[in-house]
Amino acid sequence: MANAHQPCDTFVVFGITGDLAKVMTFRSLYRLEKRGLLDCSIVGVAADDWTLDQLVDRARTSIADTGEVIDDAVFDRFASRLSYVHGDFNDAATYAAVAAAISGAQQPVFYLEIPPFLFGRVVAGLDAAGLTAAARIVVEKPFGHDLESARALAAELHEHVDESQLFRVDHYLGKMGLEEILYLRFANTLLEPVWNRNYVASVQITMAESFGVEDRGHFYDPVGALRDVVVNHLMQIVAAAAMDPPAGGRSSDLKDAVVAAFRAVEEADPAHYVRGQHDGYLSVDGVAPDSTTETYAALRLQIENWRWSGVPFFIRTGKHLAATQTELRLVFKQSPRLGFGSLRGRKAEPNQIVVRLDPSTGVRVVLDAHRSDSRRAEPITLDMNFAAEGGEGPTPYEVLLHAAMVGESGRFTRQDAVEETWRIMQPLLDAPPPVDPYAPGTWGPASADALVAGHGKWHEPWLDS
Ligand code: BG6
Repeated sequence: MANAHQPCDTFVVFGITGDLAKVMTFRSLYRLEKRGLLDCSIVGVAADDWTLDQLVDRARTSIADTGEVIDDAVFDRFASRLSYVHGDFNDAATYAAVAAAISGAQQPVFYLEIPPFLFGRVVAGLDAAGLTAAARIVVEKPFGHDLESARALAAELHEHVDESQLFRVDHYLGKMGLEEILYLRFANTLLEPVWNRNYVASVQITMAESFGVEDRGHFYDPVGALRDVVVNHLMQIVAAAAMDPPAGGRSSDLKDAVVAAFRAVEEADPAHYVRGQHDGYLSVDGVAPDSTTETYAALRLQIENWRWSGVPFFIRTGKHLAATQTELRLVFKQSPRLGFGSLRGRKAEPNQIVVRLDPSTGVRVVLDAHRSDSRRAEPITLDMNFAAEGGEGPTPYEVLLHAAMVGESGRFTRQDAVEETWRIMQPLLDAPPPVDPYAPGTWGPASADALVAGHGKWHEPWLDS
């Protein structure tokens, strides 16, 4: 059985000639090399009949194309770790070649950046070649397309490996901003006492993207916004915002706290779900001409526990919106009328705490204060940007690939959490409302405003000014 904390001595990438490797993996591995965190051989596996030189060339151009300035000495060190095995994933000879390439390795990590329908086949091939006993297997989303398929996928993998060996990537778990939410909440006496239904009126999570699906129409059209980012990424933000403190420092304590939070979330109600599709989506390459896929989703969740009962969690995301920004926003209850001062008008904005996760990481507190240019209380903002305080952290994929290498499983999603998020979203998949059109560059369909009626408004995210 795998030793959870032994660093890997070989990192095997299935699908190394694919797109994810090109845009993410090579650069992340190179940056780990640069920071002195790479300590294993790297074996690429794919169907393409490439030479090692071709792979090294691909690595160099991929890293350069991401805008990284390549340090030749670092790149040479990285390239000297690479080897390449090509073959059909259906063919036992491919796994025999992988076994030969990693012979002597005690702690392999197999990273499957391949379509999910191949996960079972590859893991079975590795198992038949006797390579899985000590292995960690890293897989990319999607983990099913609904509750039933998520269960079936896990059952297929569990035939060959134990759940503790599976490291499911949700790159939001590598984001500094997500971790920041946990630190802010649980490292501060100031915040935790008010982080509940006694003080919080509603929670808003916005993941806005000003760009479209670009050249990913074939992938995106059968998926849509709910499956692409809500059931996974945005539910990780819900968990970080809603969970109780983990009972201890083990990875499983953190995962247990996440799952406990998800269990308290009621199944989403299609009556509180708005789907939108931006004008022009139907002419994107790879999109069906009569597609009803949503490029925008907004919904309301209810969490039925002592901390959150009665506090709606509003979530929205969309392509081609007015800006690119992801944030968590707690909107606090209105304070009572000010008992002093020359004008006793109510304030316009309730207090808010914003944690922004993307494109940069920061914290904002919105309070009321007396400014000299006004006779009444006016909102002021206390802002902190992490880029200016210690700098931004490493990119999510650097964090996650390194975590997989050293066996830090807390950065990955456990199957019970995956199933909980599908349970919550399943009613929306079963009874989706029609898609409402919206113009690119706006905040989505006007129909989404009705979702928050009675709970203020959608707050425009905190953007760089
Ligand atoms: C991916 C989705 O998982 O996350 C994309 O497939 C989305 O559609 C992306 O754009 C957003 O991630 P990030 O880290 O760039 O905000």
